[in-house]
Amino acid sequence: MGTLRRSNGASRKSSCYNRCWKRHGSRIALELARRKAKLALVDFRKETLAETSKMVDALDAKNASFVLDVSDAKAVLALPEAVKKALGEADVLINNAGIIQPFVMAKDLSLEDAHHVMNVNFTGPLMLTKAFLPGLISRPVAHILNVSSLKQRVGGIKATHSFCF
Ligand SMILES: NC(=O)c1ccc[n+]([C@@H]2O[C@H](COP(=O)([O-])OP(=O)(O)OC[C@H]3O[C@@H](n4cnc5c(N)ncnc54)[C@H](O)[C@@H]3O)[C@@H](O)[C@H]2O)c1
Repeated sequence: MGTLRRSNGASRKSSCYNRCWKRHGSRIALELARRKAKLALVDFRKETLAETSKMVDALDAKNASFVLDVSDAKAVLALPEAVKKALGEADVLINNAGIIQPFVMAKDLSLEDAHHVMNVNFTGPLMLTKAFLPGLISRPVAHILNVSSLKQRVGGIKATHSFCF
């Protein structure tokens, strides 16, 4: 977003941005459900999963929910088999789960917070990709989608940017 000015156009853009913020995972799931994909829904928050699953059910798309922390190596390694049992071999992996750390300057960012962001936003998708690759490679056509941020293209000393290393 550019600088906000007091014109109707700018306000509309701003409110669109606010509405678009958050819940990408549910939006992706709903679009795929509309296209009748079978969906393995993954989140570490049970309530979020239940909400999304309910919306997907309403569209009559087959789905299964998995409560899982993407930074938990053991759980991630076990996921492809669990998905296969519930829905069959996966054709698509969407790495969307991610966190944005507190907006602080790099000098004020604790190493603990930085490691946590790396574990969820980088190591998590890497482990998921490696876990699902053998199955994906066995499919005639398969896709991996990694959700990141335009912020990855911006340098700077504000630690906000490090959420999308
Ligand atoms: N919203 C934006 O404008 C924006 C901008 C840039 C990048 N992104 C990226 O888009 C993706 C989705 O963001 P969003 O805005 O929908 O955020 P969101 O917080 O609404 O969704 C993120 C989801 O990931 C889940 N999650 C977080 N940590 C997890 C973990 N360790 N294991 C499993 N699940 C976990 C959360 O429970 C949540 O449901 C993220 O990767 C984010 O970095 C979003």
